[in-house]
Amino acid sequence: MVNEILKGLSQQPKSISSKFLYDEQGSRIFEKITQMPSYYLYDSEYEILKEYGSRIWSALPFESKFSLVEFGAGDGSKTIQLLKQLPHHTYLDEYIPVDISEEANKTLAVQVEKMIPHMPVEPIQGNYLENMKQLIPQDRPILLMYLGSNIGNFQKDQIRKIIMDFGQNLKKGDALLMGFDLKKNPLTIRQAYDDPDGITRSFNLNLLTRFNRELEADFDLDNFDFYSYYHPCSGEVRSYLVSLTDQEVFFKSSNQSVRFYKDELVHTEISKKFDFEEMEVLLNQSGFMVMDKWTDSNGYFTDVLAVVK
Ligand code: TRP
Repeated sequence: MVNEILKGLSQQPKSISSKFLYDEQGSRIFEKITQMPSYYLYDSEYEILKEYGSRIWSALPFESKFSLVEFGAGDGSKTIQLLKQLPHHTYLDEYIPVDISEEANKTLAVQVEKMIPHMPVEPIQGNYLENMKQLIPQDRPILLMYLGSNIGNFQKDQIRKIIMDFGQNLKKGDALLMGFDLKKNPLTIRQAYDDPDGITRSFNLNLLTRFNRELEADFDLDNFDFYSYYHPCSGEVRSYLVSLTDQEVFFKSSNQSVRFYKDELVHTEISKKFDFEEMEVLLNQSGFMVMDKWTDSNGYFTDVLAVVK
């Protein structure tokens, strides 16, 4: 962990991988973000799955038993909403949630097993980008789920590569159900990513608290602030920490220090918004054909069902 962080902080421009946002405290603050009225993402996708869940199941192309693999399952509260609407006679016979958080995986497995007692749940703790091949079984039909605009948290060429990898690791006839946050009024997006109560700010500053604790760093939180902006053409929200002064931070655990200049930015997250055409092109280029898509009543978010050609 420390090497990856020091590497990001020694580059120009500085960055910290967004996966470090989600320690215990960070996950708690993120949950608060998902409950903010202005953070429309969670509610929009929840509405889609609640409203169209049974239509999603019946739109699947399978005619024999299949497994559901979910990348970045998290606490699975949206997936549970979808599973609640699983038809009685379904070919789904196994659920494999994959997440880097072992804690989230366990809670999810217990909940699903309680809800659907006959369905085996086989959670896997791991990084789905590094081990994609091993995580997608090759001996049966697969529905791969990648919800929640997870894909939006990657850079442009990574996005292309991930969807390409999905296409390569799935077989002909396998399905992908994927969430995309849509381009919309930029003011709506700005409010989702920079709230007046400072919850998003504390979510980002928590990175520094975490490094102070886990890496024995000496960040002074009063010397950093949070800034984010949305660019309506690229569709990208970019979030940053801002160094408010010239300063040097010492990482005791590795006996190294990092200099920050006044007004220097540290990039923490990218949250990309898409339009339909862009999504369709990405999926087509990776060997998929879009079968169907469902959108919430505000037109903010979409879940797309695509099948490997
Ligand atoms: N990664 C999530 C998203 O893009 C969570 C998030 C919300 C976030 N607001 C943020 C991450 C601000 C970093 C900075 O929606």
